[in-house]
Amino acid sequence: MSVIVTGADGYLGWPTALRIADRTDERVVLVDNGGRREWVESVGSTSAVPIASMEDRLAAAEEELGLANLSYVEADLTDRAAIDQLLSVHEPDTIVHAAAQPSAPYSQINGERANFTQHNNMQATRNLVWGLEEAGMTDTHLIETTTTGVYGAPEFPIPEGGAVMENDGDRDDVPFPAMAGSWYHLTKSHDAANLRLAHDQFGIPISDVRTAITYGTGTEETEAHPDLATRFDFDYYFGVVAHRFCAQAVAGYPMTVYGKGEQRKPFIALEDAVEGLARLAVGADADDDPAERPDDHVVYNQVTRAISIVEVAQTIADVSGEFDLDVAVEHFENPRDEDETHKMEIENDRYADLIGGQSTDYEEGVRQILGDLVEYQDTVAAHEDRFLPGVLTDDE
Ligand SMILES: NC(=O)c1ccc[n+]([C@@H]2O[C@H](COP(=O)([O-])OP(=O)(O)OC[C@H]3O[C@@H](n4cnc5c(N)ncnc54)[C@H](O)[C@@H]3O)[C@@H](O)[C@H]2O)c1
Repeated sequence: MSVIVTGADGYLGWPTALRIADRTDERVVLVDNGGRREWVESVGSTSAVPIASMEDRLAAAEEELGLANLSYVEADLTDRAAIDQLLSVHEPDTIVHAAAQPSAPYSQINGERANFTQHNNMQATRNLVWGLEEAGMTDTHLIETTTTGVYGAPEFPIPEGGAVMENDGDRDDVPFPAMAGSWYHLTKSHDAANLRLAHDQFGIPISDVRTAITYGTGTEETEAHPDLATRFDFDYYFGVVAHRFCAQAVAGYPMTVYGKGEQRKPFIALEDAVEGLARLAVGADADDDPAERPDDHVVYNQVTRAISIVEVAQTIADVSGEFDLDVAVEHFENPRDEDETHKMEIENDRYADLIGGQSTDYEEGVRQILGDLVEYQDTVAAHEDRFLPGVLTDDE
């Protein structure tokens, strides 16, 4: 038996794999195709924090953390034969599926990239659920990081899962509608629907973990050695808003908030995101059984707080003084058609119970990021033209 972590070379997958390996004696099989490294390079950028090759990462995990139960398989999850082989060789009792092309702006560049994103993400998930069904492995717990983006920005508190629909005076519980606002986010709406169907038809236990915008440069495990670091992107396409703003602060650029910036978005620290996935996969500590192993289909809103964009920027400006950075927050006319005052409210009781409450608030997260990023000021400054959308190197 084993635990498979897909997308294990990625920002979230790598630290999650380390924590899981620390809490189980089972083999933890890391799967990735290296796609993220290539996509970031193709937009002319790089991870601000240097990342080691997978070979060096695994060697450091063994030397620094004593983790001898990690192995790596380079495979493309859109290849069904590769998945069948993975399942038959490793017989996983749990799969954490964190592989995806996760950038909304990248998926919006042109039709080719929209197609690629939808094919890549949805084919990988379909291959996993059909692979489990056809291998007779429908007891395997499938945990996927979908996204809070599947909910869009409704004018009511977002539930942790489904919705109630009313028509002609009658009401019923329904899955939340696919309100996603990008070709990427919609892959996760479709994944959520396919996971639900796979549970209904095949009985596969599913944890659909709707991941919020994740901030932070590392976790306890990744900070143990430079070769254990996880990636940190800051370019227009692959840097999430808090990371982009922190990089702008370090490079001496003002942070640009469009319009009022009062709209709230859901956030979570990397530490709290990793902890929830590890608890779902293998429990809260080495002696534990998984806390929430379901026979069911359970949705978690993996979020600790909704924060306004202006607070995201202002907190960075406030903390930046501790690192001798002098940063301004500038407001520009909003080029996007969006409600700049949308006050998102999002329920998260089930996820908060799972992790026992937030461990790292946004201000502490910003302090960690700025403290780490100032060391890589040169890398950020060398790529500062990539804060904005631009010509892609593979189109040049
Ligand atoms: N980071 C966030 O803020 C955030 C927010 C919401 C949801 N998520 C979701 O969490 C998951 C992890 O996100 P991340 O930020 O770590 O992204 P990431 O790009 O760093 O990690 C994803 C990994 O999956 C790999 N991958 C992609 N397609 C693959 C394929 N066909 N075969 C094998 N490997 C493949 C990539 O190479 C990459 O290493 C994704 O599903 C993403 O959609 C992330």
